[in-house]
Parts: sequence; structure tokens; C-alpha cells
Amino acid sequence: MARRSVARLALLGVSLAAIATQLSGCLRTSSGHAPHRGSCFPADAVVIGAAGPKRMADVRVGDSLLGVDAAGKIGFSEVRAWLHRDVDAHSNMTVVETSIGKVVASAKHSIATGTVGRVEYAYADELEMGHELIAMNGSAVRVVSTGVQAAAGFYSPLTYSSNFFVGSSADSVVLAHGFAHNPAPVFSAHVVHALMNIAEVWYGTSVHAIEQEQQRRYLHPVLRAVLAVCPIVSIDAESEASLAWQWFRAPRGAAADDGVQAHVV
Ligand SMILES: *[C@@H]1O[C@H](CO)[C@@H](O)[C@H](O)[C@H]1NC(C)=O
Ligand SMILES: *[C@@H]1O[C@H](CO)[C@@H](O)[C@H](O)[C@H]1NC(C)=O
Repeated sequence: MARRSVARLALLGVSLAAIATQLSGCLRTSSGHAPHRGSCFPADAVVIGAAGPKRMADVRVGDSLLGVDAAGKIGFSEVRAWLHRDVDAHSNMTVVETSIGKVVASAKHSIATGTVGRVEYAYADELEMGHELIAMNGSAVRVVSTGVQAAAGFYSPLTYSSNFFVGSSADSVVLAHGFAHNPAPVFSAHVVHALMNIAEVWYGTSVHAIEQEQQRRYLHPVLRAVLAVCPIVSIDAESEASLAWQWFRAPRGAAADDGVQAHVV
């Protein structure tokens, strides 16, 4: 048992060290900033499930969401985990209005531009009139205007493809990545999925378990461990030191994430 724990710790250390050095976001981390909470999509965002459009708040681990796979094909991809889910959060989010409607996301959430075959990502607040986003049928839709609006909830599901179509109505969905505050979302998604694989080997898929009704504030345990080593954005100072250990003691996602301010997703 002890030897196994040491092996796990070593493996985790190596993984996290790799992340800490490779995620370019880390290199630009600065501490002195007041945390501006808020990433992800609001509760009333609409995604496309296998049975049709559904509210973000109704999405469950295991659902399939429409997105684009690595080969550039539009199709469904299973929700592997919640990266971040905060039912009670309130924030001001960026509204991007396109020719087909609106999408509301946190300012630094990555929205797809380019084409289905060659997806690129830009932060929501970098988008301007004339930029082209990707509609559900793969066609380009132009940004008409951008703004800010109050939004309730932070929701960030991680699908196997790491992206999904999302909008403020079923007609207005455009492609977005699962990550925010990350200058290299595609690369980082590979790293996060690799860590998820490791976590699943250790703990089984129950590492992604979440009590959707009771856990109103959830941050995935793998992400918590990453943030403890690599505060891509900010983590509350007092909880920082204990985070990696929390992950070992409470690997099932059950620990309250008091004081953790996540901005990655
Ligand atoms: C949203 O922005 C308005 C105007 O700047 C501000 O008064 C309000 O407190 C902000 N709300 C949140 C939740 O940050
Ligand atoms: C694709 O979707 C857009 C936006 O909804 C629509 O304007 C366009 O006509 C559609 N194209 C095709 C080929 O269906």
C-alpha cells in the first residue's frame, strides 16, 4: 500500500512537473492580480445533445454533445467529466452576437474560428465584428457585435473531443472549446485528457463522480491538482498548499473546493 502510494505520488509529480513547464499559460502567471472569478458558460446556455438541444445545467457526465473531432468531422462526443461547475455563481460574461444569434461565455473562454477542417481558437473578448465562427452545419457565421451581460452559473463540461457547439438558443450555436484562460487549448486538452487517463487507472471512472444536486460548487480533482502545482490563474493562497494532498485523500471529487478560484475553464 505504501509503495503504491509512493509510486502514485512520483507519477503525479512527473505529470504535474511536465504540465507546469509545458503549459505556456504558466509562464505568464502573475500573482498580484485580484482574482476575477468566472469562466465557462452560463446555466442557460444551450448545447446539442444526442436527443436534441438541452440546457447546459441539464447536461450530465455520459451525455453526448455535438462537436468536431480531431479529423474535422462534426459528430457527438461523450461528456467525460465536469471540469468546473458552479451552480450559484454570478458574473458578467461576454456576449458575442453573430448572424444566427448569440453565444454567451466568460471573457477568456476559447471560441472556435476558422473552419471545421482547420479550427483555431480565440478568446471570446478578442472577437470583433467580421470574425467568422463555426455554425453547427460547418458553415461560417460572422460576428455582428459583442457586449457584456450578467449571467448565472459556471458550467464547463469536458467532452472527449474537448469542444462542443454552444449558444444562447438551439439556432445560435457555434463551436467552442472546453477551456478558457489558456493560450494553447488544443495542446492543453491533450495533457488534461492524459491526466484523466492516469486518474482513471488509479481511481476508476468514479474520479469524475459528481452529485449534480448536492455539489453546487465543483472543480474536477485532477484540475485541482494541476492548479495546485501550476496556478495558471489564481488559487486562494491558504488552500494552495493542501490541494495536492486533498486530491490524494479525497480523490472522488467529493471534497468541497472552498477557496479554490478556478479560471482555467
Ligand atoms: C457586472 O458589471 C456591473 C457593471 O460594471 C457591476 O455593477 C456588477 O457588479 C457586475 N456583476 C458581477 C457579478 O460581477
Ligand atoms: C448552415 O447554417 C447556417 C446558419 O444556421 C445557415 O445560414 C446556412 O444556410 C446553413 N447552410 C446549409 C448548407 O444548410
